[in-house]
Amino acid sequence: MSKISSDDEVFLAPEMNAFGRQFRDYVADSERQKSVEEFYKTQHISQTLDFVKKMRNDYGRLDKMVMNNWKCCELLNEVVDESDPDLDEPQIQHLLQSAEAIRKDYPNEDWLHLTALIHDLGKVLTLPQFGGFPQWAVVGDTFLVGCAFDESNVHHKYFMENPDFHNPNYKTKVGIYSEGCGLENVFMSWGHDD
Ligand SMILES: [Fe+2]
Ligand SMILES: [Fe+2]
Repeated sequence: MSKISSDDEVFLAPEMNAFGRQFRDYVADSERQKSVEEFYKTQHISQTLDFVKKMRNDYGRLDKMVMNNWKCCELLNEVVDESDPDLDEPQIQHLLQSAEAIRKDYPNEDWLHLTALIHDLGKVLTLPQFGGFPQWAVVGDTFLVGCAFDESNVHHKYFMENPDFHNPNYKTKVGIYSEGCGLENVFMSWGHDD
């Protein structure tokens, strides 16, 4: 267990994930890590600025569905996140574990329990009734598009196969943006957080 401390709290975080390995280890040689790498290859090749703009326009209208939160949690019983090197259980378990762990550490912060419970509901985008998108369009770490892909992204080498990689307008450090334009004015790869 490792100690994590903030100003007024100290709690213990486990060092091993559900597979008995270090958390967020993207390089270890196991079947799980190989399939995670395969996931990132497809994601890095497919997430282009055009795709992000199209999805923002379409899903930004918020006209697809009305549903209560618990019903939506239950739908995640059918969703496994292929980008997660630490978990291959249905996402409803991830929601409940996150919410309960936070309730244990912060019993009086009910807004935070709720936040944990709903933080990954966007993964329903993989289900047919929400568009049935492939995993690369829904999960995984996000990154800036419209400018050079940063080398700190996991499995960076696969960006070379993304059509935007060779676009002269997008391949410079700031790309289509201006220096210091602010996070609200940039395009991130599309996913469940959107
Ligand atoms: Fe998430
Ligand atoms: Fe999550």
